[in-house]
Amino acid sequence: MKALVLAGGAGTRLRPITHTSAKQLVPVANTPILFYGLGQLRDAGITDVGIIVGDTAAEIESAVGDGSALGITATYIQQEQPLGLAHAVLTAADFLGDDDFAMFLGDNLIEGGIGHLVEAFNRDRPSAQLLLKQVPDPQRFGVAVLGDDGRIERLVEKPKDPPSDLALVGVYLFTPAILDAARRIEPSWRGELEITDAIQRLLDDGATVRASTVDGWWLDTGKKDELLEANRIVLGGLTGRVDGEVDDASEVIGAVVVEPGARLLGSRVRGPAVIGADTVLEDAYVGPFTSIGAGCHLTRTEIEYSVVMAGCEVADIPRIEGSLLGREVTIRPTDRRPAAYKFLLGDHSQVEI
Ligand code: TTP
Repeated sequence: MKALVLAGGAGTRLRPITHTSAKQLVPVANTPILFYGLGQLRDAGITDVGIIVGDTAAEIESAVGDGSALGITATYIQQEQPLGLAHAVLTAADFLGDDDFAMFLGDNLIEGGIGHLVEAFNRDRPSAQLLLKQVPDPQRFGVAVLGDDGRIERLVEKPKDPPSDLALVGVYLFTPAILDAARRIEPSWRGELEITDAIQRLLDDGATVRASTVDGWWLDTGKKDELLEANRIVLGGLTGRVDGEVDDASEVIGAVVVEPGARLLGSRVRGPAVIGADTVLEDAYVGPFTSIGAGCHLTRTEIEYSVVMAGCEVADIPRIEGSLLGREVTIRPTDRRPAAYKFLLGDHSQVEI
């Protein structure tokens, strides 16, 4: 079995971060989101991985390389435009050949891996095996209607009046029949070739589509709040480790990872939290559910429930919460008059004061 990991797309919901970087590489607990999925594929024994890339191809390729560090073999497949998940499958037709494959959305995180899904697929040999999760707001998702025998009867994309509360999670197992089905669908109202339409086409052909459910968490990290929540949940399972320097005036409480080269000077970190390599905290407080990337400098600042990407400098800010800072962001006061807030913000930035 091969894998197809989708790491293209537009990422409009995570602007301005995605104006300059790939959303699949935004870190959760200081590890790019994409790496969690690649690790779960490897753990399920799937190592021949095609990665769909778009405008951020160079960045994805430089992060994943040939895949060997993650225990996979990566093949990059350029999608000229993000024209939908079924379009991505068709773009990968040459790579997929006649093999079964697991499709994994590169911005999704699921608890517990995909081993059980692969097992069920190999046992029952349906045309497709989908992963479902009960959600409180099915209107936002592709939703599945299940028959008594566990087979999927039909799928509805973002229903106004949901027929069930079972949402499609971003992992799918397919036989090559999906390629033929994807060739026979038309773009949806949003101009995309939808994977739900291709699967519905399989159902209309009389094919068997089965489902497994996720009992643990599933996070689609497309938006800031979802990303912070993913960071909170992943940090919740953290085991502490101090490889950097913690001076006598500093205190580390609970599960905290201090990466090599990081220095805590007169600072307090209350876990779960990760402090990236070579980051310096001076008279700072880092509170629970916070990831600070590599090479940051935080001085006389308190921060909690936030993700700070590499190379940021923050000084003299009394309290930051619920925030996502992109790479090399600087926030500091100025003593020049008139005393005023001064901003240099990219398109779609959001500031709450
Ligand atoms: P989405 O999050 O559905 O789409 P998007 O990345 O365009 O984001 P937004 O809605 O914020 O504009 O995509 C799910 C995953 O699939 C994500 O990792 C991007 C990837 N993708 C592709 O690789 N090709 C595509 O054509 C599409 C639509 C998505």
